[in-house]
Formats: sequence, C-alpha cells, structure tokens
Amino acid sequence: MQKSVVARVGDYQVRQCEREDIPGVIQINEDTLPEHYSDFFYYEILTEFPEPFLVAELEGKVVGYVMGRIEYGFSHLRRLGLSRKGHIVSVAVKEEHRGKGVGTQLLKASQAAMAAKGATECYLEVRVSNNEAILLYQKLGYKTSGRLEGYYKDGEAALVMAVPLAQ
Ligand SMILES: CC(C)(COP(=O)(O)OP(=O)(O)OC[C@H]1O[C@@H](n2cnc3c(N)ncnc32)[C@H](O)[C@@H]1OP(=O)(O)O)[C@@H](O)C(=O)NCCC(=O)NCCS
Repeated sequence: MQKSVVARVGDYQVRQCEREDIPGVIQINEDTLPEHYSDFFYYEILTEFPEPFLVAELEGKVVGYVMGRIEYGFSHLRRLGLSRKGHIVSVAVKEEHRGKGVGTQLLKASQAAMAAKGATECYLEVRVSNNEAILLYQKLGYKTSGRLEGYYKDGEAALVMAVPLAQ
C-alpha cells in the first residue's frame, strides 16, 4: 500500500504514522526518553489525531516520530480568550540518525498538520536540561512561555515553549 509521505530530508521520508508503526515508535520512545506511556495511549492518539502523528522512515525502518494532539484552552502566547492549540506530546529521533534535519522536518510537518486542523499555535514541554531539544525548538521560533517546577517524575522542571502557527 502507498504510504502518505508529507516531507523528505535526504533519504528520509516523513509520513503519516500507521497502526503497524506503533511498536517501532514505542521502542524509540523507550530507548531515547525517560517519559513512557501505555501502549493504549499511542493507539488512542493515533485514532483521535492521526494527522500530526508522523514517523520518519529510512529504508523501510522507522527512525523517528512525532506525536501531537489538538486541544482547546488558554493561549500560551498571551492571546486573549481560548485558542485551538497544537500540543507536541513527544518527539524523538534514534541517536544514530540525529543532526540530519529529521527532527526539524518531523516538527514542521506536524505543525503544518495542526494548522490545517485550525490550530493557531503549538506548544510543548521540555526538560530544562535538554539543551539539544531547546535549541531545535528555538530555531523553529518557539519562545519560553512558562516553567513548571517538578513537572517530571524525577522532580526536574519543564519549560513550556510555544510558537504561532501560520494559517
Ligand atoms: C531533539 C531531537 C528530536 C532532535 O532531532 P534531530 O533529528 O537531531 O534534529 P535536527 O537534526 O533537525 O536538528 C535541528 C537543530 O537542533 C539542534 N541540535 C540537534 N542536535 C544537537 C546537538 N547534539 N547539539 C546541539 N544542538 C543540537 C541544533 O540547533 C540543530 O540545528 P543545526 O543542525 O542547524 O545545528 C533528538 O535530539 C532526540 O531525539 N533527542 C532525544 C529525545 C528528546 O529529547 N526529545 C525531545 C523531548 S521534549
């Protein structure tokens, strides 16, 4: 079956995540991040918000993913009233495939999918010590909009970062 490619970077393809990709996505999450979710959570997000859930693939193997959802609530950009917001729940690229622009393309494509669904901004949480990720988000225009003390299970604080989305 033809899979829907939404972006390319070098030989990597960024495409819509499909149910059979989820075990590979879970494996990357477990190998790269301390925050894990139940298997059910991944399938639920894919069912509810398929468009911003993307994988990066090289030679038929999933090497990265971004998982996002659309929420409705207060803006992180000091806009008045309630906003339709994209939320990057998790993003990761396998270590040996980093530094090649894959993370950037995953995020850009997920943000575009959120904007197409009416989101006017996108936000995420990131560990205050995660310099690589913070640099990447800054490069994409994210600004820090808050800090959540003790956000992670081990007690580390999170920065909340947000960016406006072009409509
Ligand atoms: C954060 C992550 C997804 C970035 O993926 P990536 O494919 O390496 O990202 P890119 O190649 O698109 O890099 C984009 C920018 O990020 C920053 N960056 C990436 N790796 C970096 C490193 N080792 N040191 C410093 N900056 C780095 C740079 O600003 C880089 O831009 P440049 O290549 O023009 O210098 C990846 O490092 C990762 O999976 N980390 C572990 C999981 C994680 O922390 N996820 C985020 C949770 S909030």
